Order: sequence, then structure tokens, then C-alpha cells
Amino acid sequence: MQRFSADGHPPVEPYRIKVVEAIALLGRDERERALERAGYNPFNLLSEEVYIDLLTDSGTSAMSDRQWAGLMVGDEAYAGSRNYLHFDATVRELTGFPYVVPAHQGRAAEHLLLSLLAHPGDLVPNNMHFDTTRTHVQRVGAKPVDLAIPEAYDCADPHPFKGDMDTGRLTELLDDPKNSVPLVMMTLTNNTGGGQPASLANLREVSRIAHARDIPFYLDMCRWAENAYFVQQREPGMTRRSVREIGREIFDLADGATMSAKKDGLVNIGGFVATRDAKLAARIKEELIVFEGFPTYGGLARRDLEAMAIGLQEGCDERYLEHRTGQVRFLADLLTASGIPIMNPPGGHGIYLDVRGFLPHLDARHLPGQALVVELYREGGVRTVEVGAIMFGDGEEVADQGLELVRLAIPRRVYTESHLRYVAETVRRVWERRASVRGFKMVEAPEHMRHFTARFAPDPG
Ligand code: F0G
Repeated sequence: MQRFSADGHPPVEPYRIKVVEAIALLGRDERERALERAGYNPFNLLSEEVYIDLLTDSGTSAMSDRQWAGLMVGDEAYAGSRNYLHFDATVRELTGFPYVVPAHQGRAAEHLLLSLLAHPGDLVPNNMHFDTTRTHVQRVGAKPVDLAIPEAYDCADPHPFKGDMDTGRLTELLDDPKNSVPLVMMTLTNNTGGGQPASLANLREVSRIAHARDIPFYLDMCRWAENAYFVQQREPGMTRRSVREIGREIFDLADGATMSAKKDGLVNIGGFVATRDAKLAARIKEELIVFEGFPTYGGLARRDLEAMAIGLQEGCDERYLEHRTGQVRFLADLLTASGIPIMNPPGGHGIYLDVRGFLPHLDARHLPGQALVVELYREGGVRTVEVGAIMFGDGEEVADQGLELVRLAIPRRVYTESHLRYVAETVRRVWERRASVRGFKMVEAPEHMRHFTARFAPDPG
């Protein structure tokens, strides 16, 4: 069956639309006033001020009719709810991890795992830490270390698995007797580096290296299904294996995982931590009771657990994944055809504009990523986010984390081909007048995770 339309269109949606939500584009003056009020930070814009919202793919999915129906069969018992049993059985069946603890979202799962495993002075290697993971490592006094392969830092390099870890550097780090490493992590897909997948071959090697030294290996599995789909499509010998089988092999390599189900779990809220370690699971549950709630609800309504159980299954449907990754590729093709520099190849959950290539006249001090985010909203009411010096710096420091990107995250099952064409046209218009784009300065910033609340002002210098 032909699911791709002829040349240059994304695959036809494997769903039809049952509920719609109105959106409207504010006038240019209103957008300008909204930007000023928001301190030029997209997190401070109101949803109603945004036309196409590509701030994040997290918790922004459209749920299916089956998930909405699941909410109606919520068994809101404090303890032992049937929705918990469904959720628990689903995660165990998908991942093979025997102990599953629900949490209200990914960072709660990270808090539970990292506050128990990591200690002051430890090093925690990852392909690239996402902001919340990085902050949770730092909060316990440990140091996050990013060990992605060098190709991951070159936007033009077409390497199919830029989420891979540099196993030579990992081995060096683990074999240095000065280092204390409580766990090795891999983030699937590598969100900070462009939504890039890790290969099964690399995951096997990382698992072998960690386990040979008795170090546990944990996954951040937020976007595991997109990662497994790319393995199926790109890794030699994988085309005949299903996403579930590939996923299961990946999980078999690990000792456990944290998950924000707001991504590949297709829910608006929810997450979990899973492990093979019975003692650790018991300690996690103790912490859970203090911070999140009883282990059969983990900070969620029980109906949320039902929606998560259903969403986790739908998230690895291959027709859905073909359409989803096809949408991202479609937008990438439109932008590339206009000469716009992006992280290549396009990742699983969004397009990442290469800010240095887009605004070469602005250096890091002038916060070019923020300048581009502001221009995209100003031009077309499109909300995006900087993934670079602001997101990964602390306090006053401008971090050079190697990559300076602006992410256009695509919510799941939400936007159509014409929305994506509109986005591409908005980016193209900014690209046409890119030489006139001016820099920004940060005028207020908290110490950690500052991108959420910092305020900015145009920097005429
Ligand atoms: N890990 C990764 C790789 C993530 O992308 C996120 C969230 C988290 C952990 C934390 O999960 O939000 O449920 O607490 N990423 C969102 C984003 C916020 O926009 O990429 P959470």
C-alpha cells in the first residue's frame, strides 16, 4: 500500500481528526507587545499569543479516542487501582524491566534515580545530558559529562547515529582511577544534539563497557520509539525487525530507565522510573512516597496512568512513527531547499536550526539563538526554543556547549502539512532578512535552568 504521496509530501496521516481547537494569528503590533511583556522569552508568552506552537513536543500530543476513553475508566482508588495494574503490566511487557515506579513526569523520575545513585564528586557520563538530567546530576554535587561522538557537534555531518557515545572516551573516563562513576546513561534520542538516535551497535558497546566494570547502565527513554524506528530504518540488517523488538533489545542491554511519557508515551502528563534492581526499587518507592505519592499512583490521577498505558502502545505503532518522522523530514526538506542551515540529518521530534550558520554576524555574547527565536515569533507567531548557550549555561556564564541551535519541536499528531508549510515560509522570510537581525542580552536570570524564566532585552551593541 502506498502511504507516501508522490514526491515531496509527508506520509498521509494514519488518523483522522475528531476534535479541533481554534488557533489565531495575532496582528504584528500585538505580537510585538507580547514579546516586550514576555521579556523576549518564549516561555513567558501566553498560549493564546502563539499561532503555531513548536516550543516543545513534551506533553503537547493529541491523545487518541482510545486514550480519552481510558480517562473515563479511571479507578481513583488511592491504593491498588486497576489503572496502575494496566500501566505496570504495559511497561513491564514493553521494556522487560521488572520494577516500575510511576512518577508525574520525567524530571521526577530523574530526581528519584539520581538522588539515590549519584553522590558529591561523582561523574555521570551521558551521550548528551538534557537540561533537567544535567540539573539533577548537579544538584547532588556530581558532574555531568557529555561524551557524544565528535560528529554530533557538526551540523553538516550526515552521520545517521549522532546520538552515539564516544566509547573510547567512555573507556578512558571509567578506567581513570581518580574518577568515581555510579552509573552510565544514554539519552534516546539525543534531544540536546538534535533529536538524534543512538545505534543498537553503540548501545551494545556502551552496555558491555559499563557492565565489564560493574557499573549500572541506565537509559533516558523519553523518545525510545523514535530511536528504535531510526535503528530499523538506518542500521544495517534491521529492516525486518519491528520497533518493539528493537526496543526490547535496547532495554535488555540496560539496568533500568527514566521516562517522560509526555514524549513517546503520547500523554499530556506522566512518567516513570524502571529498574532490574529490587533493592533500589524499594528505596525509590520510599522516596516516591515522600515526594510524589503512593507507588500505585506516583503523583498522577489514576486515569492518567490509564492514558499512559494506552499511549505507550500507540507510541510504537510503526505507521504512526513513519508519519511522525516523515513530517519532520518534510519540514527539513522545505527548509533545506531554501538554503537554510539545519542540524543534519533531521531528528525524530523536530528541526534544529543551525544558529551559527543562520546568523553568522552575531557572536555568542549577543545570544543569537534567542534573537532567532524572537524573530520567528515576530514574523509568524511561531514559538520555538533556544537549545544552546542560554539553556546550558548557569547564572551569568555563557556556556559554549559546542552547539548553538533553535529547536522547532513538532507535537505528536497535532499539526498538518499546511501548518508545516506555513512554518517553513515563516523561517524562510526571516532567512531572507537575516542580516538585519540584532542581538539580545540577558537582563534577569536565575542560577539553574535559566531559560525557563530569564528575561532579555534587545542589545543594540
Ligand atoms: N529527558 C529528556 C531527554 C527530555 O527531553 C526531557 C524533557 C526530560 C528528560 C524531562 O522530562 O519534562 O517530563 O520532566 N524535555 C522537554 C523538552 C521539556 O522540551 O524537550 P519532563
